[in-house]
Order: sequence, then structure tokens, then C-alpha cells
Amino acid sequence: MNITGKTVVYGLIAEHIEHTLSPLMQNHAIAKMGIDAVYVLFRVKPGYLEGAVRGMLSMGIRGLNVTVPYKRAVMQYMDSITDVAEAIGAVNTIINNNDELIGDNTDAYGFTLCITLGCGIDRFPGRVCVIGAGGAARGVVYACAIREEVDEIVVINRTLRKAEEIADELSLYTGTIITSKPAKEEVFREVIPSAGLVINTTSVGMEPNIDATPVPCPEVFHEGQVVCDIVYNPRVTRFLRDAEVHGAKTIGGLAMLAFQGARSLSLWTGMDAPADVMLDVLRKKFDK
Ligand code: ATR
Repeated sequence: MNITGKTVVYGLIAEHIEHTLSPLMQNHAIAKMGIDAVYVLFRVKPGYLEGAVRGMLSMGIRGLNVTVPYKRAVMQYMDSITDVAEAIGAVNTIINNNDELIGDNTDAYGFTLCITLGCGIDRFPGRVCVIGAGGAARGVVYACAIREEVDEIVVINRTLRKAEEIADELSLYTGTIITSKPAKEEVFREVIPSAGLVINTTSVGMEPNIDATPVPCPEVFHEGQVVCDIVYNPRVTRFLRDAEVHGAKTIGGLAMLAFQGARSLSLWTGMDAPADVMLDVLRKKFDK
């Protein structure tokens, strides 16, 4: 890598940056695209967010990704916010467009490609079950709700109030029927068998708790379903393993990570970013 006065800087801001895979995939893509740019990490301590974000203008930083815990908090420092980011209620990509900061969100786009390209299906199933009601769930629910072929989404969460909030807000915004239910075994038994697409957006099952799963009754899964976990470490979670054993088609979180990252890089550069290269390098990292 040859950094000069012309090298364009992109990066990620987060409170904790130790485990992120974004520089690996973004710098691989940058090299493949042959552009003079670099993607770096900025650890932003609580209380320093405004300075970090508005500092993009002083420092000439052309694009930033935003992750936990700042996706909502950065919104107040944007000059404008895209409709998608507004609907999802979070910004994961900031574009410095001629000294104006635009807040966008590529999570829903990344999720949609994960289902269509990653699973090789053109149309989403009509009934969708989303498990979890945190920041990641909002992007997933939005992505499903704007598909005309999706008739109904059920959001299931440990804390019912948060599921209710997502259901109320996004059903109003998109016009799709979105309901909410508490994470109880009888609810999973009632909802999952009739859902064509089931997505885990919680952190349950993530390393080191690899034996945990949000769904305590694996027999609810069956052939003909698509089951997606946004957790990518481990690559195959217990949730996905249970679904696969019962005949469902499964996809893990690395694809969504790669597709949302590729979309951010495309927005910054105005060029097609090679999502396949990004996914490949992530997979290789885990296969080591
Ligand atoms: P993110 O932005 O990554 O989605 P988050 O906003 O903290 O993270 O949301 C985490 C999600 O995982 C929430 O739906 C959370 O449930 P609660 O809303 O009840 O907190 C869910 N979650 C985390 N740990 C969980 C556990 N042990 N059991 C069930 N759900 C869990």
C-alpha cells in the first residue's frame, strides 16, 4: 500500500474496534478496484462523537461506516438523511459529499442481497418471522416490509415492548402488516412453521455461547423454508444447524456483512464494489 497526499480515506467509527472485519474486506475490495484509497478504524470514546463525525469535514474524510453504539446517535450530526436511513432509524454509512454529510443505511440493502443473491431466490416468501428487535432487526424488517410479495411479518423478541415499537413504526411507514409477539416457546411453535423466511437478528449463539439458540424447539423448521442468521461467528450457528437438519435452506451472517459493506463502498466511490471478493476474503479468514 502506497499512501500519498492523494489517497482517499474511508473508515469505521465504533466504541470497540478490536474484532471488526471491515478493514479486511474493504481494503481487499479497494485493491481489486485499483483505486487510491484506504479504509481505517477510529475508536471513538463516548462523548467524542460529534467531534469525530463533524471532523470528517475538517480532515477531508470521504466516508465512514458507523457501528455499535453510534448508529442512532450520529443522525443528529448529519446535514441530510436518506429516506431508508430515516425509516430504519439508524445510519451505518456517512457520505461526505462536497462538504455535506449525508447519513445513509446499507443494512437493508445488504440483507436483501443476502436473501436474493446469497440464497438464489428472486421473490421473498409471503410470511416472514424476525427474531429480535434491536438495531439490526430494524434494517431486516424494513427490507422485508418494502417487498411487495411480503404480506405479513411477525417480530418476536424477549422484550415485547421493543418488538411492538418496530412493528408499529414500520407498519405505518411501509403499509405492510407487522405484528409483535414475546419470545416464548409456544409463540415459536405457532409462528415459525408457517413462515417461509425466518431471520435471527439477536446475538444469541454468538461466540463464545455457541450452544445457545433463540429458538428452543428445532422441530419447527422444515423443508421449503429459508433461514438466515445475522451472526457470523461461528459461521454456522446452532440456530442454522437446527434449521438445516430439518431441511431448511440456510445462510449465515457473513453474506450480509459483505453486501452491506460493498454497498457503502459503492456509495462513496460511485463505482461497483466487488461484493464477491469481499465475501470470499471473509470466508477465507474463518476457514483458516
Ligand atoms: P443490535 O443493534 O446488534 O441488534 P441490540 O440493539 O442490543 O443489538 O439488540 C440485541 C437483540 O438481541 C435484542 O432483540 C435483544 O433482546 P432484548 O430486546 O430483549 O434485549 C436480543 N438478545 C440479546 N441477548 C439475548 C438473550 N440472551 N436472549 C434473547 N434475546 C437476546
